[in-house]
Amino acid sequence: MFSEKQRPPSLTRRGGFLFLFVSAAWLVFWYPFTDINVIQQQHEHPLLNKTQHDNQVNKSPSAATTCDKNMSVYVYPLPAKFNLGLLHHCHNLNMHTDMCPHVANSGLGQPISSGGWFATNQFTAEMIFHARVENHPCRTRDPALASLFYVPYYGGFHVSNKFRERNLTARDELDVSLVDFIQAQPWWNKHNGKDHFVALGRVVRDFIRKPNDRDYGAGRLLNLPAVKNMSVLIIERHPWQGKNQYGIPYPSYFHPSTSQEMAWWQNKMRKVRRPYLFSFIGAPRRKAAIRNEFIRQCGESTLCKLLNCRTPDGRSKCGEPSEVLKVMTESRFCLQAPGDSFTRRSTFDSVLAGCIPVFFSPHSAYTQYGWYLPGERSSYSVFIDQKSKASERIEEELMKISSKKVKMMREKLLGLIPSLTYAHPNATNSGIGDAVDVALVSLAKQVNKIIN
Ligand SMILES: *[C@@H]1O[C@H](CO)[C@@H](O)[C@H](O)[C@H]1NC(C)=O
Ligand SMILES: *[C@@H]1O[C@H](CO)[C@@H](O)[C@H](O)[C@H]1NC(C)=O
Ligand SMILES: *[C@@H]1O[C@H](CO)[C@@H](O)[C@H](O)[C@H]1NC(C)=O
Ligand SMILES: *[C@@H]1O[C@H](CO)[C@@H](O)[C@H](O)[C@H]1NC(C)=O
Ligand SMILES: *[C@@H]1O[C@H](CO)[C@@H](O)[C@H](O)[C@H]1NC(C)=O
Repeated sequence: MFSEKQRPPSLTRRGGFLFLFVSAAWLVFWYPFTDINVIQQQHEHPLLNKTQHDNQVNKSPSAATTCDKNMSVYVYPLPAKFNLGLLHHCHNLNMHTDMCPHVANSGLGQPISSGGWFATNQFTAEMIFHARVENHPCRTRDPALASLFYVPYYGGFHVSNKFRERNLTARDELDVSLVDFIQAQPWWNKHNGKDHFVALGRVVRDFIRKPNDRDYGAGRLLNLPAVKNMSVLIIERHPWQGKNQYGIPYPSYFHPSTSQEMAWWQNKMRKVRRPYLFSFIGAPRRKAAIRNEFIRQCGESTLCKLLNCRTPDGRSKCGEPSEVLKVMTESRFCLQAPGDSFTRRSTFDSVLAGCIPVFFSPHSAYTQYGWYLPGERSSYSVFIDQKSKASERIEEELMKISSKKVKMMREKLLGLIPSLTYAHPNATNSGIGDAVDVALVSLAKQVNKIIN
């Protein structure tokens, strides 16, 4: 529907265009599918009927958060250089993308439709988390009453701003200055920082440079002794060494303010027609041969929908939320290939779209998001070992799963949407039981265990 000429000129320069383009694309592809349907559905199905949707929708276990003594969060008022001040460099916060449009609206990015939809970048979890906690009902302004101490450092933005800094002292300076600041606070000594935490929006590899490591651009925040005493909430943890690391979701595109908006979406994803058995969204990678294999298998299957993120002209639809969600809502299964690291933001888009994720490494999700995912992995996902023969015939493997089982898995998955979503930060007490509610409840229990 869009000719190449109408596309923005380049990925890096598209900042201002992005909003317009995505909005336009949204109107064409997606808008008819959302807001107009809300109105119709309110007549056809009484979705906003409280009693009915309470029965229909599996709610997040943290939907009703109580802020008792064990769960009251103090947010350190850090000097701006540790968080919002970093946004002055928003043009240089990422080597591949101009982050300025993405850090708007507390990290939700540019709105693409009413009802809580934003073109959210995958690396803004630390900002969204911060904004959510600031407005959270369990926030306390009195550190003497706090059971959790949140250090709102945008360490991910900082490290990606310094990837190319050759002088390691300079690269690590802000991290070191952060721990100096925190350790000088009277509240640090109460439990040696064991009730303190950070939330980071980049993968663990970016924070664990060791003195003798080949320099690959990372910082060493997570190897600083003080941070080792703290809890680290992070979008990808170290599967073996990350004892104090807890996986939190990558942000997706939906940031609802009310549990009605959430329930409406869950119901929509329950009913949508899914003509494709499976889909793959991704680009070939030299280091991840499995992606090329998926592209081949998907291309050869009439039941697979492929969205190739590397097109001959270098442009791609993969950064367009409406395109990504469209493919995923039309598919029953979504392949989640490891890329440069184990996890992918796409996993969370897929859950949001009610598309059952197919994992090829246990570290793509199972060893990552223990606070969020059911222990019984086959209840909501499919696992195919990437080294097994089965990974060479994915279509055949997926065809073996009965449609009754698919329906059950999808139902389970739809119930996971609220807790894997970042609610709108200005919705103080939405009752959604979102990713931040789950994180705070789970962390409070964990810290309680550690310090008692
Ligand atoms: C809500 O749903 C329940 C159960 O289906 C029904 O009995 C009730 O009349 C509905 N209320 C409204 C206001 O539609
Ligand atoms: C709060 O902490 C106390 C001990 O410090 C514990 O006995 C109690 O179960 C905790 N409550 C919750 C809701 O975790
Ligand atoms: C939240 O509300 C404040 C105050 O009204 C406003 O300035 C801010 O832009 C809102 N945040 C978002 C993400 O919309
Ligand atoms: C490296 O950075 C530090 C801190 O900014 C500075 O003091 C030092 O002079 C720099 N070293 C070199 C070789 O530029
Ligand atoms: C970390 O905690 C231990 C006690 O478990 C304490 O001895 C140590 O000093 C703490 N480290 C820092 C940097 O505060």
